[in-house]
Amino acid sequence: MKTTREAVPDQPAPAPIAVRGLRTVAAVSGKGGVGKTNLMANLAIASASLGARVLLVDGDLGLANVDVLLGLSPEQSLADVLEGRCSLDEALVAGPRGIHVLPAASARQDLAALDGAPLSGLRELLRRSARDYDLVLIDAGAGIGPTPLGLAVGCDPVLVVTTPEPISLADAYATLKVVHQTAPGSRLELVVNSVRDETEARRVHAQLERVTRRFLGLEIGFRGHLPHDPRLVEAVRSQQAVVEAFPNSAVARRMASLAAGLLRESRSGPRAMEAGRDRRPPAGAAR
Ligand SMILES: Nc1ncnc2c1ncn2[C@@H]1O[C@H](COP(=O)(O)OP(=O)(O)OP(=O)(O)O)[C@@H](O)[C@H]1O
Ligand SMILES: [Mg+2]
Repeated sequence: MKTTREAVPDQPAPAPIAVRGLRTVAAVSGKGGVGKTNLMANLAIASASLGARVLLVDGDLGLANVDVLLGLSPEQSLADVLEGRCSLDEALVAGPRGIHVLPAASARQDLAALDGAPLSGLRELLRRSARDYDLVLIDAGAGIGPTPLGLAVGCDPVLVVTTPEPISLADAYATLKVVHQTAPGSRLELVVNSVRDETEARRVHAQLERVTRRFLGLEIGFRGHLPHDPRLVEAVRSQQAVVEAFPNSAVARRMASLAAGLLRESRSGPRAMEAGRDRRPPAGAAR
């Protein structure tokens, strides 16, 4: 197996992460703390429960989120991959329902602003390993810096997560604008988190889309809503995904429905996935 140093090409032009026929979905947001990590971790687990082979990538490269949320204790991280100490496969750990998690490093300011050739190298690694999965979910982190943007470009769809709060919405607009300008043609979809109901979420979507249409000529899809739910907070405190800790909670049911929607749209739907059950577990699974 190639080491990362061999695998990282010294070229600035990033190739799209998405591979035809596969779903590589990224979550971004302008404002932090709006629910990206919970969304992607729960989507991953719910999708795996439906039979999908799922890779969950913690793209918040300098501030690990996913392993903390899921109570995992990875020995290696993307930092080791990027610095050539292990392969991507060796850095994977097994999460709930057999998902594979590619953990990020913690407190690595340098990785938080990954750019240029190392970012291209990471994209290439992800693009290659995506072939082993039905669904690759990338928690790309907050903000409009090069790292979240570079991870999101080429994913389909790019989920922009927001809450109904004005600051979150203003930052969601900025994110939509920057992704659209960086990669015109990206399929951008809104997930509105922490709402009372779907009506509120659709109102938020309509409000934002009025502005993106007017100033950017951009339509945004509506991926769905997630209710504000104290069960999610409880699950986070116990380092579990809410779909595992409280599968019947309102938010867990919405997560499951969003996962089913994504898989339904996938060209390799859950039934087609049955053929590929024999993928070996990641190195971390044996720990
Ligand atoms: N639907 C929800 N209901 C209740 N609380 C929520 C909900 N979604 C998110 N939260 C709260 O927001 C917190 C932050 O969520 P999360 O870590 O998923 O956000 P994030 O966008 O990944 O943040 P960051 O930008 O810092 O990575 C959660 O720990 C939880 O307390
Ligand atoms: Mg996060």
